[in-house]
Amino acid sequence: MTDDELLDAARAAREAAYCPYSNFRVGAAILDENGGLHIGCNVENAAYPQGNCAEAGAIAAMVAAGGKRIVTIAIAGGHSERTSFCTPCGGCRQRIAEFADDSTRIIARNDNGEWHTYSVKDLLPDSFHL
Ligand code: THU
Repeated sequence: MTDDELLDAARAAREAAYCPYSNFRVGAAILDENGGLHIGCNVENAAYPQGNCAEAGAIAAMVAAGGKRIVTIAIAGGHSERTSFCTPCGGCRQRIAEFADDSTRIIARNDNGEWHTYSVKDLLPDSFHL
């Protein structure tokens, strides 16, 4: 699966986002070590802290399907119809780190077709591990 295909999967997942409170739609798509594709979107709640990020949903789907490592995670997010460079929130950086290694790539693309690629170390240096 190409990066473009993974980004397209993230954008498609974003369409399903349930975000009536923020109107900030996010989709995430993970390519795992077996070539499996796992998607997630943000799911908000009237009790705000109970909402889930897109990355958390995609990670849960990967784990439930037996995936162990994130090879690449693509994220597409933005208000309304527009997407901008949406990097993972702090909590999701830690969630990604749990299933990442030094070669894991995190990619974000905007509506102009520009994209950025990060490593977990870029986004979460000196991260906590047991
Ligand atoms: N959100 C994500 O899904 N992933 C992130 O990494 C950043 C934030 C969601 C949470 C909330 O539903 C909305 O975006 C606005 O914060």
